[in-house]
Amino acid sequence: MNLPDLNKAKLRSHNIVKIKEYINDNNLNKLGLNKKYFIRTYGCQMNEHDSENIKALLENMSFRETETMEEADLILLNTCAIRENAHNKVFGYLGRIKHLKEEKPDVVTAICGCMAQEESVVKEIREKYNFVDLIFGTHNIDALPSMLNDVITNKTQEIEVYSIEGDITENIPVKRDSKYKAWINIQFGCDKFCTYCIVPYTRGKQRSRTKEYILEEVKELIKNGYKEVTLLGQNVNAYGKDIYDDYGMANLLEDVALTGIERVRFVTSHPWDFSDEMINVIAKYDNIMPYIHLPLQSGSNKILKLMGRRYTKEEYITLFNKLKKAMPNCSITTDIIVGFPNESEEDFNDTLDVVNECKFDSAFTFIFSPRIGTPAARMEDSISALEKEKRLQTLNELINKYSKEANLKYLEKQVPVLLENISEKDDTMLAGYTDTMKLVNVKAPIEKLGQIVNVKITDVKTWSMDGEIID
Ligand code: SAH
Ligand code: SF4
Ligand code: F3S
Repeated sequence: MNLPDLNKAKLRSHNIVKIKEYINDNNLNKLGLNKKYFIRTYGCQMNEHDSENIKALLENMSFRETETMEEADLILLNTCAIRENAHNKVFGYLGRIKHLKEEKPDVVTAICGCMAQEESVVKEIREKYNFVDLIFGTHNIDALPSMLNDVITNKTQEIEVYSIEGDITENIPVKRDSKYKAWINIQFGCDKFCTYCIVPYTRGKQRSRTKEYILEEVKELIKNGYKEVTLLGQNVNAYGKDIYDDYGMANLLEDVALTGIERVRFVTSHPWDFSDEMINVIAKYDNIMPYIHLPLQSGSNKILKLMGRRYTKEEYITLFNKLKKAMPNCSITTDIIVGFPNESEEDFNDTLDVVNECKFDSAFTFIFSPRIGTPAARMEDSISALEKEKRLQTLNELINKYSKEANLKYLEKQVPVLLENISEKDDTMLAGYTDTMKLVNVKAPIEKLGQIVNVKITDVKTWSMDGEIID
């Protein structure tokens, strides 16, 4: 048993990160024969991508996927710890699993992801949800086959969570959710330690993958017909700083663009280390998409400082304007937190000022949620929950106004769209994203799935647009 330890998770070792290759244990290839697994994924793209690894590991053991929890022999929850409501959803779901377990005691239940890295969560699961058979963390997904084997053969509870990240394991099998677009990890962990954020504790220190492994993965995807890659990291701009002296995100973006893949995206960019070289490369290559997610968090310099974000409102706006100048049609989205401890009316108005100035294409907005162990959770806070709700609503109204305005500029225009799914709102339509990451529902035959087509926008809403293909 290895239990998570918050104090250890805060540490940053100077050990050189080693790379190992995943080795499949063929003895376990039949462990899941005639068995089904059900997986539910919470949180960010990194977790989505981890679930793609988990699915492949399970299918290599002959498990098959089911979308109905009641049918499953193995239930996995890949969890997120970023805010209280992410926690609540998982504990709510565990309540459902508890009932199922009473009827079908042989069902194996596993919890993984960022919540599994939290000391307080594992304690709560052991106290109140002790029927959970397996808890493993974000650093040992590759060990899933052997951990599962132990649970199934020994019928004991396994808890294997490491608070200090280990080596990087390359070539973990992957079953991608899409045939056209793929997530690629370029960096794990985060060393920024923004004072509100749990990620540096749940994902460990910042570790970049080597450019060779990344470029190999892109080339393999091109061979398999993929049109789009999204390079993933909590701080992609800092890519390479931990392993190279003279190769960073600008170089990587350029090399990925030069592979010829049709679309390159990347998330998330921290405003702090967004270099001019990066801007030049993004502007230079047509296959690097003109879309940047640039979290602001707050428009108040006082709050930004308390958050440990390392930039001012003025620096953010300067960067924003630089990006727009280099790429006038580029869309920029953001993340904003309201109700950080002691955010005054004036601080909140500063945030609204930045929104009014930048007129973001869209934004994810959140009420501050104290995370156990982070510095902000210990800050005194005199602002009421009601006031925070009101601020969120005011902010959302403004954000929505600008989203609609940004979308309206697309009316009657022609845009390239990668058609990737059947539309959720109308199954005679296909859905996809423009180069600038706008969701478009398109009247198109199913044969067009997976293609990048030219679309004329015929109608515009706050969160999506409609369009038709032009030949
Ligand atoms: N690495 C990214 C953010 C990843 S987390 C970055 O630095 O930009 C995604 C978003 O969740 C953050 O941008 C932030 O807006 C929000 N978030 C993180 N911790 C939070 C907390 N404790 N309460 C509320 N929102 C939070
Ligand atoms: Fe969290 Fe800050 Fe790291 Fe983003 S940069 S993951 S907000 S600590
Ligand atoms: Fe959540 Fe972990 Fe991602 S906390 S947002 S799943 S890195």
